Amino acid sequence: MAARRSIVKWIGGLVATALGVAIAVPAGAFLSFPTRKRTVGGADEPVDVGELERLPEGQPTRVPVRVRDLRDAWTRFTGVTLGAVWLQRDGAEVRALSTVCPHAGCAVDWEPADERFACPCHDSVFDPSGARVSGPAPRGMDRLDCAVKDGRVLVTWRRYRQGVAGKEET
Ligand code: FES
Repeated sequence: MAARRSIVKWIGGLVATALGVAIAVPAGAFLSFPTRKRTVGGADEPVDVGELERLPEGQPTRVPVRVRDLRDAWTRFTGVTLGAVWLQRDGAEVRALSTVCPHAGCAVDWEPADERFACPCHDSVFDPSGARVSGPAPRGMDRLDCAVKDGRVLVTWRRYRQGVAGKEET
């Protein structure tokens, strides 16, 4: 009789534990959402930044990178500016350089008289290809993926860590 009672007790404990786990796992997943999920959507895809034909040859042109639709875990935003790029057209090809200075994040300008990029914050200078010439910037300007499709220029926006020599995505 005592053995039977102990088996019933043991089974009862097992069922209670199973029920606890069955409730705790989904509850934990619900409460921890979105800590382990990628929650921002709409910023990873290539962004249409304009018509190829409107870009002058040779001269860098600054354009904003703006997405129509950006979503995070709970909110949806429209018309969000992610940043800006310098576009350089060479025939049917376009190169995109982030305007974000790799030193500390100021906006890099194009100086047409000297044909160079320069950062006003701490005087980093870059050549027209974006390579570092002088100043505290630890690397050249960050090149972004850029493609031309059906006459439209598409840029994939990325941010990289500042103040380091390597290009590390943030
Ligand atoms: S932020 Fe550009 S040189 Fe410092």
